[in-house]
Amino acid sequence: NSKLIIAIDGPSGAGKSTLSRLLSQQLNYINIDTGAMYRAVALAASREGIDSEDCQGLEALCHRIEIHFQRENGHESVWLNGEDVSEAIRTPQMSLLTSKIAACAEVRQAMVRLQRQMGKAGGVVLEGRDIGSVVFPQAEVKFYLEASAQARGQRRYDELVAKGLEVDLQQTIHEVEARDAADSAREHAPLLRPEDAVAIDSTALTIDQVLEKMMVVVSQRL
Ligand code: C5P
Repeated sequence: NSKLIIAIDGPSGAGKSTLSRLLSQQLNYINIDTGAMYRAVALAASREGIDSEDCQGLEALCHRIEIHFQRENGHESVWLNGEDVSEAIRTPQMSLLTSKIAACAEVRQAMVRLQRQMGKAGGVVLEGRDIGSVVFPQAEVKFYLEASAQARGQRRYDELVAKGLEVDLQQTIHEVEARDAADSAREHAPLLRPEDAVAIDSTALTIDQVLEKMMVVVSQRL
């Protein structure tokens, strides 16, 4: 049985995290949420008072922190220096800060190196913005998951409300759009759709319908 590398890229709120988790469970693969890695760097930077523009400071930070994932009973968590930061990295403020620090080429280099180590043996689903374009251009399967800005903002809003955060729908939609615009316009590894990626628009589809479409594509490569 071949151990594929599966890349899922796309803007925020398109369903990447959910689908990546379900797909990896179905295939018994490792799941790597690369956004969570950039978020952990952003959290560490804000705690240490390192400015998002201070790329050298951020680079040094990347080399002294330890980030890993843990999976227990189907529950996945992100750890920073031995602390479970899964919740702390998901606030709207941290999303914004993450997008800023992720524009630094040195930060990206450090994260890409880690991601390649984690994924090189295959049997892995990675989700992010530059997986199919930069991290694993040779990935056997590439998906580009998208949805309308309205749908993506609504999903992000529902997630935050479910966590008990007080947020505004219009503002959430606006923040999602602004972050995607920044991620798409940045100089290093911008969000883009690789030519060889299978594009899926999840706006009018249920999670199960997207998963089914993905499984059809994956089955052809197994
Ligand atoms: O996917 P998520 O919303 O958690 O990602 C947070 C931010 O991390 C994105 O807005 C983007 O700026 C950055 N990111 C990135 N490259 C990746 C994954 C995430 O630049 N592969």
